[in-house]
Amino acid sequence: MKLGRLNHIGVATPSIADSIVFYRDVMGATTICEPFDMPDQGVKVCFVDTPGEGGTNGTQIELIEPLPGNASIAGFLERNPQGGQHHMCYEVPDIHAAKAEFEAMGKRVLGEPRIGAHGTLIFFVHPRDMGGVLTEIMETPKGDH
Ligand code: CO
Repeated sequence: MKLGRLNHIGVATPSIADSIVFYRDVMGATTICEPFDMPDQGVKVCFVDTPGEGGTNGTQIELIEPLPGNASIAGFLERNPQGGQHHMCYEVPDIHAAKAEFEAMGKRVLGEPRIGAHGTLIFFVHPRDMGGVLTEIMETPKGDH
């Protein structure tokens, strides 16, 4: 497994609009993307940038709000009514190689690689195989560095 940059931390929220106010007014975030729906995943998503070093992209916060009919994020919010940390996403140079490596180590990869919120392929690994952390693996966007 070739560990890359921590791309983003996924934070579930009952209200992206309220979370945007929090990250802007309490945390001082200045670059907050326009929220958009990902109907295939059943979520509305909004990225909050943190500054990186030397003009590179910093790690982002991915705000996730369930769309109607999304049972898994809705269930998370039932257990965590304020929302909270949902997953961590690491970049890798080659998504298919990473999937094969995780599976060879007996880790449960959840589904086939699919296009994620950044337009590159992603997959998730079961939290019970990852020290309790739902882990998203994402192919590094081309031309990002
Ligand atoms: Co994510």
